[in-house]
Amino acid sequence: MEVNVTDLRKKFAELFGADGEAKAYFAPGRVNLIGEHTDYNGGHVFPCALTIGTYGIIRPRQDRTIRFYSLNFSDMGIVETSLDDLAPSESAGWTNYPKGIFWTFEKRGYHLETGADILIYGNIPAGSGLSSSASLEVLTGLMLRDTFGFDIPMADLALIGQYSENNFNGMNCGIMDQFASAMGKKDCAIFLDTNTLNYEYAPVKLPDATIVITNSNVKHSLVSSAYNDRRRESETALKDLQSVTQIQTLGDLTEDAFEQYKDAIKDPICRKRAKHAVYENQRTIKAVEALKKNDIATFGKLINASHVSLRDDYETSCPETDLLAELAWNVPGVYGSRITGGGFGGCTVSIVKKESVDLFIQTLDKAYTSKTGIKAEFYVVDIGDGAHALD
Ligand code: GLA
Repeated sequence: MEVNVTDLRKKFAELFGADGEAKAYFAPGRVNLIGEHTDYNGGHVFPCALTIGTYGIIRPRQDRTIRFYSLNFSDMGIVETSLDDLAPSESAGWTNYPKGIFWTFEKRGYHLETGADILIYGNIPAGSGLSSSASLEVLTGLMLRDTFGFDIPMADLALIGQYSENNFNGMNCGIMDQFASAMGKKDCAIFLDTNTLNYEYAPVKLPDATIVITNSNVKHSLVSSAYNDRRRESETALKDLQSVTQIQTLGDLTEDAFEQYKDAIKDPICRKRAKHAVYENQRTIKAVEALKKNDIATFGKLINASHVSLRDDYETSCPETDLLAELAWNVPGVYGSRITGGGFGGCTVSIVKKESVDLFIQTLDKAYTSKTGIKAEFYVVDIGDGAHALD
């Protein structure tokens, strides 16, 4: 996992030549502690940036060519495109993410005269749901901003990343992942109101515990279409509710107000989706209050309730992540555990007493493999800073 930036620079010089100044950047992945599928429902989220993420080396060119190379997709070799040909294509593979950022810069009026040579390396496990694509988007935005001298606040780089993912890559994601990658802060989670983009850093001080991410190593297919379905179902629920109460988003409702108005939602599936969005938002607010009071037990209970709601009402969990969460709940010393991120596979996040981490890993490792035949992976993670230049 350790990344040596000098080695990345050497590789860059080998591929693209050694003349001219190349600069190095990093953008992190994220883990969301609580507030899942609330970011496109006008609710709160509580993610933190990780110390793993995506590294980039960039040097501007004199012409309109863009050349990309990723050490993670070295079989694709150097992928070449032009500033005059910024349309998504299947053959462009991973480069559709950075290409989308070039495209979005143009759309937003940040005009680029010349292209660039770009080397990428990421150390987020593939398909883990820890936001490798968002980190690549934010990284590219930051590299373009600095290389071509634009004045763009970091939060806007997050919005550029989201716009690109929605409109260039066809994934209708919310703002959470890009925001966490751009705005993260060491040892803090970001309490973000996705309705206003107001945010506050909350120190994650866990006196006797640590954050453990467990990778189920499964990614079920159709993730982006199932995700887009959830968005539509939530929107349908909102429209029905708006016929009986004046709200802008599901995040405007308390639990009591939801119970009062819920019968206006005609479709029972949409009603369940809205229930999750409303309750999860309120859980997130309560979880941050609990964390601020150092009440880790309450924080953990809310995390568990989030999993149950994602499993039963939002239906974005899957048997493998359900198993990981249930196993975790039964290990002494675990405050809380739930699926994290978009869902349908990926990772769980658990708050585990330091003295119980070994037991936690041993227990889940054994039981998970024996029940599923799949090997889980465990990462005891640190919370890192948002995207930044490395020199
Ligand atoms: C994905 C999306 C985010 C968010 C989560 C679910 O990670 O990119 O915007 O909606 O799913 O909370």
